[in-house]
Amino acid sequence: MATYIILLGMQGAGKGTQAAVLSKRLGVPHVTTGGLFRAMEGQDSDLARQIQAIMKRGDLVPDDITVAVVRQRLAAPDAANGAIFDGFPRTLPQAQALDALLAELGAEVSLAPLLTLDREEAIARISARWECTLDPTHVYNMRTNPPKVPGICDIDGAPLRQRPDDTPEAAAKRIDTFFEKTAPLLDYYRARGILHEVDAAQSIEAVSAALLQLIEAKGRA
Ligand code: AP5
Ligand code: MG
Repeated sequence: MATYIILLGMQGAGKGTQAAVLSKRLGVPHVTTGGLFRAMEGQDSDLARQIQAIMKRGDLVPDDITVAVVRQRLAAPDAANGAIFDGFPRTLPQAQALDALLAELGAEVSLAPLLTLDREEAIARISARWECTLDPTHVYNMRTNPPKVPGICDIDGAPLRQRPDDTPEAAAKRIDTFFEKTAPLLDYYRARGILHEVDAAQSIEAVSAALLQLIEAKGRA
């Protein structure tokens, strides 16, 4: 059966980090709206420039644009057996749109783990985050998960960079937006019995193990 998993959690909680691990373990794609939008950086179109400006401020991209990007991504053959969603959905209209998109595929959201972390630790993680310029799913942290050689990706040797929206101001705004716009989603998934909290203050490996345990338990149910 297809497995569509939504990773929920505050900015900096580790959604991207864990989505990369789960994607590899389960053999389903890592679908990150933030990553898809960042890949449009430098494109010569008004839409691409508009999106980069919205992200830099730490605001949300409009729902219709976001849903269109996900619809296109889900149409690719590799998403037919499932996906790990990272950073999507983030508003109630997006969650409803995702239900409709999955229903078209004869599927539904299987599990919605919520990575819990306190705000101070989330901001500390974000300000020490560096990502690979070649493959931004290779994410490091100067404090908790540093590369072997400073400024260089362990996996492909490309230079690392800090994200333009990882300034303390934009990070604080993104977290405020999480409480304002994304928190209502928690009840949406809780009511279906598919929301499970995972303590994201643990090590990266311990969080992965907890997530895999949840996924196995779901598979047995
Ligand atoms: P997006 O790219 O989704 O960013 P975000 O939501 O701000 O979340 P982050 O990437 O900051 O956090 P994360 O949970 O992935 O943490 P990570 O694994 O990197 O979105 C960016 C922007 O795009 C949005 O602001 C918006 O403008 C737009 N956008 C995207 N999706 C949208 C949507 N659906 N609707 C509208 N607009 C949208 O971990 C953080 C750091 O901590 C890393 O350095 C990592 O190495 C480290 N770390 C991770 N886990 C641990 C651990 N267990 N212990 C120690 N360190 C850890
Ligand atoms: Mg991320």
